[in-house]
Amino acid sequence: MTRNTLKPAARPNAVRTSTPSSLSETTRERIVAELNDRLADAADLHSQVKVAHWNVKGPQFAALHPLFETFAVALAGWIDELAERAVILGGTAYGTVRQAARASRIAEYPSEVTRDLEHVELLVARFDTFAEGLRATRGLAEEFGDIDTADLLTAMLQQHEKHGWFLRATLGV
Ligand SMILES: [Fe+2]
Repeated sequence: MTRNTLKPAARPNAVRTSTPSSLSETTRERIVAELNDRLADAADLHSQVKVAHWNVKGPQFAALHPLFETFAVALAGWIDELAERAVILGGTAYGTVRQAARASRIAEYPSEVTRDLEHVELLVARFDTFAEGLRATRGLAEEFGDIDTADLLTAMLQQHEKHGWFLRATLGV
């Protein structure tokens, strides 16, 4: 994976005490920081999927152009869910393009790629990185007793793994 060379994000983690959540302040701070990490990954991956949607060329164009848009629509929804869960827990959602670029774990997308199946291969690797993050954050949420965040991440993972299957099936693997 390409190392992120941008300066670390300045992201104060303090959470408000007025929240519908019954979780402790310490737990909420920890979960909010993780949710912001996943928000950064999701925003970065969303932008990369759109780049693939726009630039893809080759015999698979007719299938991949709308498939990539399906992925982008799903990611846009998850970005909103991750950000809103962070705020529900009393935190701040850090979701600008620059904030996402600083915190994302997803490798940068190469701009010279055009061929259809090359895009699919690049997205398989990036979808796997995103899934690893979702699983790690779900594990932390379970550990801290935040079952609602864990459930939210499970729902995302179920859909995201289905999309990972779509990509692999396109490659015939
Ligand atoms: Fe489009």
